[in-house]
Amino acid sequence: MTIKQHIHSILITTIIITPHAHSITRTIEPTRSRSTQHYTVAIIGTGYVGLVSGAGLAEFGNTVICADIDQNKIDILNNGNIPIYEPGLKDVVARNIEARRLMFTADVDAAIKQADAVFIAVGTPMGADGSADLSYVESVVNTIARNIDNYKVVCTKSTVPIGTGAWIERTLLAHGVDADLFDVVSNPEFLREGCAVKDFLEPDRVVIGANTQKALNIMCGLYNHLFAQGTPHVLTTVTTSEMIKYASNAFLAAKLSFINEIANLCDATGGDAHTVAYAMGLDNRISAQFLKPGPGFGGSCFPKDSQALLYMGEQNNVKLPVVQASLITNETQKTKPLEKLLQHMHNNLASKTVAVLGLAFKANTDDVRYSPARQTIQGLLDHGAHVKVYDPAAMENMKALFPAIEYCDDTYQAVENADAIIVMTEWDVFKHMNLERVRSLVAQPLLIDARNIVNTDELTALGFTFDTIGRAYLNQ
Ligand code: UDX
Repeated sequence: MTIKQHIHSILITTIIITPHAHSITRTIEPTRSRSTQHYTVAIIGTGYVGLVSGAGLAEFGNTVICADIDQNKIDILNNGNIPIYEPGLKDVVARNIEARRLMFTADVDAAIKQADAVFIAVGTPMGADGSADLSYVESVVNTIARNIDNYKVVCTKSTVPIGTGAWIERTLLAHGVDADLFDVVSNPEFLREGCAVKDFLEPDRVVIGANTQKALNIMCGLYNHLFAQGTPHVLTTVTTSEMIKYASNAFLAAKLSFINEIANLCDATGGDAHTVAYAMGLDNRISAQFLKPGPGFGGSCFPKDSQALLYMGEQNNVKLPVVQASLITNETQKTKPLEKLLQHMHNNLASKTVAVLGLAFKANTDDVRYSPARQTIQGLLDHGAHVKVYDPAAMENMKALFPAIEYCDDTYQAVENADAIIVMTEWDVFKHMNLERVRSLVAQPLLIDARNIVNTDELTALGFTFDTIGRAYLNQ
């Protein structure tokens, strides 16, 4: 047994620290020294997770060096611009650059050398077989191995499969790095695109998987600001921490698929899924969050992480039928908006003009990864429709996938002469569109609201035929 394994086996179980809660066990917990120590963090990867985490850790008072091999991205950041769409991020970045707590560099080697903790925040995309592709992580680990000459915490911030921490440890040792020079820890991120800054600065919990006291002290020191505010800290092993991230995302995904199934059944029976969800959510054991029926979940995390969990199940001969069902239901759900439109248009969309309002997988992001709007647009094109679209932020990203559809400057240009409108994303601009003006512009007053955000009383008054997901209506 190595010293590391020994420490692991005797020290680490799980503790939860809140101002009022007791620890489940107290065999290992942060020592007092962490509160006074100042640490330097290197964040490798200035994508979504890296940038928000870097800015957030700097906001907590740490010195943060964000490093990326992409010089272009670093130049953009050093010029005070943000290469991603995330409300509020620009201000936090600017404030911390000004305070000299946040820096950007393309010199990854130098960033690692200066750091007490190196956060790996590069992408872990879905591989062809559903597994997480760790090639970017591997490349960062190799770079760390080349540059480590004093003790550092090596922390996975990206979502990585269970066992990755142990694999990083083996890889560093295989590169000849002395075991005393590092500890690998897991500190998963629970950021939602569109409110990532708030999620980082005011999280429900901080999860830290560390197998030694030394690493735990440094990690807790980085989050001391939150600890002082009473944010619950779950301190556990690396493996459990890795699992917490996947379990959280797959559970939320399953919750969504569940309510979408109920919504479909409500559509068939006349019930109202939104009232059902409201009543369910009043039960504290269920909670009201993530119970809005819609066109299915998308984004970079829920589909990818559920798929990766399934893959891990297969690798370990453990069946995960609930996770599998949630993905299957979600794929079907993505077809619902088009299905509803076809019903209303007697299966004939040839040469019809359809306006798609919203392209992003949800509001307040420019991300179209796994966005349900992609299925809808493809289906409309397959049926021979002319497709006009508008989205406040995601048009450029969608252009790469559908270059030939008509991209409009605003809602009203998109709906002009439309035989039907489909609302795919819950942007405020669609919630508050002037329906009277819309009515005056369309060729036919037909609207499918996949997000249940448009005022149905007004639609009725204006003579629209409309349909939604899981809502019982009077005009059908
Ligand atoms: C998610 C997790 O919430 C976050 O903790 C994790 O770290 C990354 O993945 P994100 O992908 O940004 O964040 O989006 P989220 O706000 O969670 O929404 C995911 C999907 O669920 C979206 O497609 C959204 O439209 C859908 N959704 C969400 C619903 O359909 N109904 C709801 O009630 C909530």
